[in-house]
Amino acid sequence: MSKSKLNARINTIEPSMTIGISAKAKEMCAQGIDVLTFSAGEPDFDTPDNVKEAAIKSIRDGFTKYTAAGGINELKDAVVEKEKRKNGLTYSRAEVCISVGAKHSLYNIGEVMLEKGDEVIIPAPYWVTYEAIVKFCGAKPVIVRTKEENNFVLDRGELESAITKNTKMILLNNPSNPTGATYEKEDLQFIADLAEKNDLWIISDEIYEDIVFDGYKPVSIAALSDYARKKTLIVNGTSKSYSMTGWRIGYTCGDSEVIAAMTKLQSQSTSNPTSISQMAAVEALNGPQDSVAMMRDKFEERRDYIVEALNDINGITCVKPKGAFYVFPNVSKFYGKSYNGKKINNSMDFAMVLLEEARVAVVPGVAFGEDDFVRVSFATDLETIKRGMKVLKEFLNSVK
Ligand SMILES: Cc1ncc(COP(=O)(O)O)c(C=O)c1O
Repeated sequence: MSKSKLNARINTIEPSMTIGISAKAKEMCAQGIDVLTFSAGEPDFDTPDNVKEAAIKSIRDGFTKYTAAGGINELKDAVVEKEKRKNGLTYSRAEVCISVGAKHSLYNIGEVMLEKGDEVIIPAPYWVTYEAIVKFCGAKPVIVRTKEENNFVLDRGELESAITKNTKMILLNNPSNPTGATYEKEDLQFIADLAEKNDLWIISDEIYEDIVFDGYKPVSIAALSDYARKKTLIVNGTSKSYSMTGWRIGYTCGDSEVIAAMTKLQSQSTSNPTSISQMAAVEALNGPQDSVAMMRDKFEERRDYIVEALNDINGITCVKPKGAFYVFPNVSKFYGKSYNGKKINNSMDFAMVLLEEARVAVVPGVAFGEDDFVRVSFATDLETIKRGMKVLKEFLNSVK
């Protein structure tokens, strides 16, 4: 009998459902076709110059060797300072682990905390990696759906009834990818109290904390009670706030035993995040913050335009988000209709026909666990947004 090549664990996860659309959009671009792309998951701005200079300096200074597996003290201190400044939270170095992006932080948390039989509550629509990590670590994702009419914020009763004796943690993402949903302090207080009542951990992914609109000020759930401070692991990074997606710096703040376990895992797997990127991240967090404000302002201007333009299209409804750089319009009114003989029955069909026939790329909502919607990223310039919304409107007027 032949031995199986791959283990069972890798078969618990699927490749990203968005790959088909992205691959097709890329192929069309390579053929010289002008595709209007609204599928980006990263800011379209360049990394700020002061950050680049800090990286160049670190290379010149020969800071190019292994560092401590869980990150350099300068960066841990910068994270500690940032958490104090933004959230009024005090952490020690032993409560901070620097990883290779926030995705790596989340993965490490899963690997050191989850096991078979554990349940993890994930509000939907969700960033697809959450579900994959939970499954890969042998635990069970428990999906709690949110509604468009509630601005995609968790319903308290539904959250409460999803908790069982096996629930180990709740995974929160504020502001959210893909909906841009934001939680008010009272909502978070309710979740913190519920977690305390049921002895749950809270994973708080705050990676979009700086990309917020209409004066919304995110509060970290970790700051809302003694219990929440002890049982929350804050996950964050430099990818979105500083347009540093390729630099791969993420971090976790929280319980020192969990942090030590994550650091141990890193010491036997990835080793340290890139030394040069760590120095760049120190500058990002400690240096001038005007580029963060500039990007935020641009995102808000684009959000205003795109939400109005989408709601102006017959058949589309779109919630106005207060955070991140995505909108999540409901396109289900077009299901059952056709364009050029191509039937649209779900979000994947919608995205595919839109790409093939109108050359506009969006991400189908099914990739985030909600098939009535598509994700439209406004991490692209206003001119492209204006052209894209015009093309979309004309296209949808012809879908019969
Ligand atoms: C909600 C959310 N969390 C985490 C990440 C990961 O960020 P990174 O690994 O680049 O730090 C992303 C990236 O798309 C995200 O959308």
